[in-house]
Amino acid sequence: MSTTTPTFPEGFLWGGATAANQLEGAYDEDGKGLSVQDVLPHGGIGQARTDGPTPDNLKLVGIDHYHRYAEDIALFAEMGFKTYRFSIAWSRIFPQGDEETPNEAGLAFYDRLLDELEKYGIEPLVTISHYETPLHLAETYNGWADRRMIGFYERYARTLFERFGSRVKYWLTFNEINSLLHAPFMSGGISTPKEELSAQTLYQAMHHELVASARATRIAREVASNAQIGCMVLSMPTYPLSPSPADALAVMDFDHSNLVYGDVHTRGTYPGYFLRTLREKGIELEITDQDREDLQNTVDFVSFSYYMSVAATAEPERYTSGQGNIMGGIPNPTLEASEWGWQIDPVGLRIVLNQFWDRWQKPLFIVENGLGAKDQLVEVDGVKTVVDDYRISYMNDHLVQVGEAIADGVDVLGYTSWGCIDLVSASTAQMSKRYGFIYVDRNDDGSGTLERFRKKSFGWYAEVIRTNGASLEA
Ligand code: BG6
Repeated sequence: MSTTTPTFPEGFLWGGATAANQLEGAYDEDGKGLSVQDVLPHGGIGQARTDGPTPDNLKLVGIDHYHRYAEDIALFAEMGFKTYRFSIAWSRIFPQGDEETPNEAGLAFYDRLLDELEKYGIEPLVTISHYETPLHLAETYNGWADRRMIGFYERYARTLFERFGSRVKYWLTFNEINSLLHAPFMSGGISTPKEELSAQTLYQAMHHELVASARATRIAREVASNAQIGCMVLSMPTYPLSPSPADALAVMDFDHSNLVYGDVHTRGTYPGYFLRTLREKGIELEITDQDREDLQNTVDFVSFSYYMSVAATAEPERYTSGQGNIMGGIPNPTLEASEWGWQIDPVGLRIVLNQFWDRWQKPLFIVENGLGAKDQLVEVDGVKTVVDDYRISYMNDHLVQVGEAIADGVDVLGYTSWGCIDLVSASTAQMSKRYGFIYVDRNDDGSGTLERFRKKSFGWYAEVIRTNGASLEA
């Protein structure tokens, strides 16, 4: 396998990514309503939830970014970020989700945040919905299982485009839209326990989200002419466990179950293999003429998260599924894994970039990638830091593969590493699963000063950005 010195195009958008529920805190300030995240207990994305916010839910305080955003953005600017991906907390804007008018204090917070980004010339990249469905919508409507969600989301998205459309160019409609079937409560605000949910309900919820996403794209084009709208999928390149055709077919099936989201977002209709899945599962989706028309509003670009790859086999019952980003999969015996069992595969990033580009011919944006690891705060020359060579090595190797994909001819808009500042993990709700270039003094038991410290990777990433990737080691 040849490796070239990576060359990144001029204007490549280097940056970092976060989500409101994992870092803002201030869960009930300035009129914010509760979101599904506020009742997920310490330690899980699953169906289990509490009756209300409990003190051990680290997300209620997060890293207090709501009050410290200016300090955090100054640190991003110091690294030279060209872009910053953040999400807007839906329940700050519409506390219940089904109101007619938005909460001005919520909108004003994001105005202030955008002011800071503009001060440093950092391009915002906004996720409209990142696992933060207002709790009221989950409880009253069963979340995306209900068609009325399309209207609530439409009003929310329109409000954002009208308010911020002149300041924000890049928008993502739903974070990891293909996670809905795997984590219905967190991803789709569906309150019915997963075990009791029928495939019919789940797939109908998926359809509602796809229509809502397309409708948001249409509205953006009406009210924010500068907007570039992207879908966002969880990518999971998959290799056959053996060279047998049956395993290759298992890969194709697994791939299809994820690719359908990008197919609909880029082509505007459901592909044949998906219609077959519906037929075989005995599902009849309710699709209106208006839905079909809405779906025609295809995206400008495709964005995705990439952490790991998996293997697939025709005989999954013979293997134990491994840990992984929401959906997991059969571990690949040729790969090492992170402390949380997520298998590390830089080449998989090149493969998925090529696969998506070949398939959709839309510009691609890597909006999440990184290593969750346990960091130790130490003192070096009298300065507190983390010597995170493991993170540097992980990111270097992945970015080299991005360079390879660019050399392959893939159109890549940018790269925002996940959790550019330490934040609360989505899957485990831990603070100790850290991704950032910036260490935040907060522990799993909620203790800590919330002070920020630059890790070794902070200076490393600043250099990568300054040299537009030339400092990477192939
Ligand atoms: C993605 C999510 O699934 O992975 C993020 O979009 C999440 O919200 C990230 O934080 C990393 O996962 P985790 O579980 O390690 O936080």
